[in-house]
Amino acid sequence: MTLPPGARLTAAGETVVVAGSAVDLARRAAAFLDARISTAIIRNGQAVLALSGGSTPEMTYRCLAGYRPDAASLALLQVDERLVSAGDPRSNGAMIRRAWGGRVPLLPMIPAENPLPAPGRLAAAYAHTLDRVAPARCLGVPVVDLCILGLGEDGHTASLFPGSPALAERSRWVVPVAGPAAPAGGSPQVPRLTLTLPVLDAARCLVFLVQGGAKAGVVRQVLQGKDDLLPAARLVRRARRAVWFLDTAAAVGLSL
Ligand code: 6PG
Repeated sequence: MTLPPGARLTAAGETVVVAGSAVDLARRAAAFLDARISTAIIRNGQAVLALSGGSTPEMTYRCLAGYRPDAASLALLQVDERLVSAGDPRSNGAMIRRAWGGRVPLLPMIPAENPLPAPGRLAAAYAHTLDRVAPARCLGVPVVDLCILGLGEDGHTASLFPGSPALAERSRWVVPVAGPAAPAGGSPQVPRLTLTLPVLDAARCLVFLVQGGAKAGVVRQVLQGKDDLLPAARLVRRARRAVWFLDTAAAVGLSL
């Protein structure tokens, strides 16, 4: 994997880029994503991205939209979505559309239907979307080119929270889940849909975007700890195709 400028390796071999600010993180991550998108389009005719929600990625998506104004040859999927209406400020899809100025052909987990179908039906429908949009397979699992992920203070990623039964899911690609049991660093306690570990694990490249001193402890646990119980740790231990973009506050105490 071509490493982004300034990348360093942890003792465990994880690739980390430490940015000086939120804007620097977004610019560096967007430049890396743009390069990987170009490679995927040259090789496969399209780039399939799976985008997380939360707050951190918005600036990166805005920067990336600057590289890809018409989102041509991009298939944009969601990593996870809160089970709220499309207009709800907690909607990840609303954030992604806002970041791309509404020009992006996002394939939303939550359709603009009212009333919403049952979560199980939404999950099954999105699995069909994934099947159609991401034709490449790894052990029968759809392969996305780039999966953009965040990290919660409790070690969650996507909407895979510590102790969730969804962490054991090995056959379904999309599942409904409850929200975090306790307020997890601002991640709303609402039910969600999420891609499962097999799909995240099959991605050609995982790109974590993490900022803020409140995340420094969990970043160290995931990147340097022996704790495989944290959802993000379970993912990176298996994948070895992750690039972490951290700001200096989130990288405090990391041995690089
Ligand atoms: C969600 C997100 C979630 C997020 C982390 C980090 O829907 O809640 O997908 O996994 O990535 O909670 O969120 P911040 O970037 O806002 O810290």
